[in-house]
Amino acid sequence: MAIQKLFVGPNPCCSSAKNAFHDCFIRGCDGSVLLSSTKKNQAEKDAIPNQTLRGFNVIDAVKSALEKKCPGVVSCSDILALVARDAVLMIGGPHWDVPTGRRDGRVSIANEALFNLPSPFANITVLKQQFSATGLSVKDLAVLSGGHTIGIGHCTLISNRLYNFTGKGDTDPSLDPRYAAQLKKKCKPGNSNTVVEMDPGSFKSFDEDYYTIVAKRRGLFQSDSALLDDAETRDYVRFQSRTQGSTFAQDFGESMVKMGYIGVLTGKQGEIRKRCAVVN
Ligand code: HEM
Repeated sequence: MAIQKLFVGPNPCCSSAKNAFHDCFIRGCDGSVLLSSTKKNQAEKDAIPNQTLRGFNVIDAVKSALEKKCPGVVSCSDILALVARDAVLMIGGPHWDVPTGRRDGRVSIANEALFNLPSPFANITVLKQQFSATGLSVKDLAVLSGGHTIGIGHCTLISNRLYNFTGKGDTDPSLDPRYAAQLKKKCKPGNSNTVVEMDPGSFKSFDEDYYTIVAKRRGLFQSDSALLDDAETRDYVRFQSRTQGSTFAQDFGESMVKMGYIGVLTGKQGEIRKRCAVVN
């Protein structure tokens, strides 16, 4: 199937790797983020950090095409991982082989996503703990954060950095003051719908600019800037920035494969969903 044809709408490229990340960090890579809420249960998809996820239509289209040809074989969690890879590839990122064979979970709980997904306000200690809890390394944290070479972020999530960092109307000192001034022009106080590019100028192409931006103290979120607060992540950021991302593409593929193993269901666990938004 020509995946390209499925990516339509504003910034169609950008959410797929994020979808995989948000799936894998909650209950493992089991497609739980794709399930819709029911009358009795609010699903992960409706938790605040997941409300900006996009591209579920792509997953659904791939699933329905596959069900017509070979019903009950390819899980929604595998499709999620494959689409994330293809979306990155389409915008100039690396190719990696996606191990398949995951089965789909039957449980999805909004509160788990609300409390367990890494927050854009997180410091390096918390980020390291959250990655380590899933079996990912400090290097994986530095590498996968490079996913922010694409896409956008909402002004609300940086408003504290710009306008009230310590409750005294101040700006986050870890942000380059000139960049903070530029961001203030776009993100006015109380402005909730406006978005800014995370990698200004090339937010639709998968490149190593993210690391140059972070190294210059222009990372959008506190969680991006936090990479400069640990020796290992800081070295990684500076190395990629200095060497035009000499190993980033390779590293990103490897870390995505590693992330794709988090908590997978195999054998008789879970199921192969017929439709990705509902359990069988
Ligand atoms: C390290 C912890 C991470 C934190 C705290 C974080 C946080 C965020 C936040 C707050 C946004 C913006 C949401 C919005 O305003 O709409 C975002 C966007 C994004 N994130 Fe992350 N993220 C993290 C790691 C990752 C990883 C590992 C990936 C993929 C490998 C990723 C891929 C993306 C992408 C592609 C977008 C842009 C989505 C779009 O344009 O709709 N992030 N992230």
